[in-house]
Amino acid sequence: KQYKVAVVGATGAVGETMLSILAERDFPVGELVALASERSAGGKVEFGDEELVVQDLATFDPSGVDIALFSAGGSVSKEYAPKFAAAGAVVIDNSSTFRYDDDVPLVVSEVNPEQVRNRPRGIIANPNCSTMQLMPVLAPIHKLYGIERVNVATYQSVSGGGRSAMEELGRQTAALLSFQDPQPSKFPVQIAFNLIPHIDEFQPNGYTKEEMKLVWETQKILGDASIQVNPTAVRVPVFFGHSEAVNIETKKKITADEARALLREAPGVEVVDEHKAGGYPTPVTHASGKDPVFVGRIREDFSHPRGLNLWVVADNIRKGAALNAVQIAELLVAEGLPPKPARS
Ligand code: A2P
Repeated sequence: KQYKVAVVGATGAVGETMLSILAERDFPVGELVALASERSAGGKVEFGDEELVVQDLATFDPSGVDIALFSAGGSVSKEYAPKFAAAGAVVIDNSSTFRYDDDVPLVVSEVNPEQVRNRPRGIIANPNCSTMQLMPVLAPIHKLYGIERVNVATYQSVSGGGRSAMEELGRQTAALLSFQDPQPSKFPVQIAFNLIPHIDEFQPNGYTKEEMKLVWETQKILGDASIQVNPTAVRVPVFFGHSEAVNIETKKKITADEARALLREAPGVEVVDEHKAGGYPTPVTHASGKDPVFVGRIREDFSHPRGLNLWVVADNIRKGAALNAVQIAELLVAEGLPPKPARS
């Protein structure tokens, strides 16, 4: 079976990685269409050994597309995802536009793969990167021990903000090392050699939208609106890989040994937890460029009888975005999504 696959936002940080993951995992692609704005139409992107010419999304005819992976921002998804779905494509959308709609499944491939079948609008949403990496870790614990509450502080790399955000960290770092003004533009304040406790827009309750995504998406993916989540989302001057300091309170006590044993068996998770220098995952030493979610610093919370601490690190562009989108596409193939006949 050979599918016509479109990648929308193919020139972006996530889109580019979608292309390389599709090639690397040998996804059954018959034809691949790389789409972006008219700014980069006519340029080239790599797909395995091939070079593809980027086409302008605005003038592209989506009929014949089987699967469309969208990562070009919320407004692009809002306008074009329904058009692709109406033309018969299954849309896997990386923006937050449809995530909270009841008739759009929000899927982490290891956690709720069965949800891909419930797609009345032809749209499947890919979770936010910070929620994504937490789910393969929390799901098995929730199933056996019942999670009541999650306290999480994130340490999010700049690649989550797209290519321009990575360029800004590079530019500011170079500027500061040569005693020049860092000149913030993409970020509200200087990001180089700094931390910013502000990602996405402020909400009326004082949390940011990035923080509320962790609340809404955790409850939806784990299918349990009673789980309390208290997040703080922070941007850090790291290029690739998000980290999370996580404290959970369970209904039934889970020991650190039980958690380690459970997580060693969890799909998509790798335990790195030795009590020595470097015996824990970091974005640079473990996560960057890798598929699994890494977890370490597993320890019982001595301030709470049913508390557990974890340190969770993953490549936000891979598992946090592009990889999970491709894994959702693989679930569609496994379910037997019929490819459309080629038009003559
Ligand atoms: P373009 O290169 O033409 O701007 P990132 O998140 O790394 O900034 O990438 C965003 C991606 O979304 C890029 O591929 C970008 O393409 C694409 N994009 C942004 N705006 C539009 C648009 N209006 N139509 C199509 N693609 C868009």
